[in-house]
Amino acid sequence: MKINDNIAKEFTKYMIKYPDLYKNLAYTIYKEIEQDIKNPIILDLGSGPGLINKEIKNLLPDSVILSLDESIKMLKNAEKYQYNPNNKFINSILSIAENLPLKSDSIDILVSRFSLSYWKNPKKAILEINRVIKPGGKFVLEILNKKFPKWKLFLIKIHMYINFAGSNVVKYHIDAYNNAYNIDQVILLLKSGGFNISRRKGYPKGWKYKIIATKTKT
Ligand SMILES: C[S@@+](CC[C@H](N)C(=O)[O-])C[C@H]1O[C@@H](n2cnc3c(N)ncnc32)[C@H](O)[C@@H]1O
Repeated sequence: MKINDNIAKEFTKYMIKYPDLYKNLAYTIYKEIEQDIKNPIILDLGSGPGLINKEIKNLLPDSVILSLDESIKMLKNAEKYQYNPNNKFINSILSIAENLPLKSDSIDILVSRFSLSYWKNPKKAILEINRVIKPGGKFVLEILNKKFPKWKLFLIKIHMYINFAGSNVVKYHIDAYNNAYNIDQVILLLKSGGFNISRRKGYPKGWKYKIIATKTKT
């Protein structure tokens, strides 16, 4: 499903109601950063409205955060909602996961939340991600779980409607589940792309899971 102005706006309005989801992921990133890295360079891939960036900046004020998304509408929303003249930290990049306009070995930690199921060529994207991360750097991936039961998905749909998500946003989210991966598939993908799996978190049939992968040092 293609993102238009309406979906970008409605998605942003809806997700702003759930800051704890982003705080939690930001804390994971904070813990994964090596103590001796003073100004970590963090790439948020498929950043959407950029809601995680504010949370990362709170925990890691000296970090440099790059927000990359294929949707100009999402990037504009991120700038609109997050921009604060006294704390200008949004660095938007319009591109796709499969083609990252960044130098090799330049990123300390790459985070991607709920974007993988939309990528057209995940194998190519994982190789690109591996290329841009520094050796020993981390890839924090949060993903919808293909094994989440269909009847529970129906409950999520109702929850979203009750909380004014709007039908396009509900459809966008449900589409993502239909194209989601299970944890074993993602682990295989990551390993074939040159990553070691450091940690994973989530229930086998939970709605999402988190994987922390490390780029091998050569
Ligand atoms: C469900 S939204 C998640 C946004 C954000 N990560 C969050 O958790 O709030 C998925 C985002 O991935 C972006 N996206 C989808 N395919 C992409 C690709 N191949 N490369 C970069 N971004 C992509 C979409 O434009 C959208 O903003």
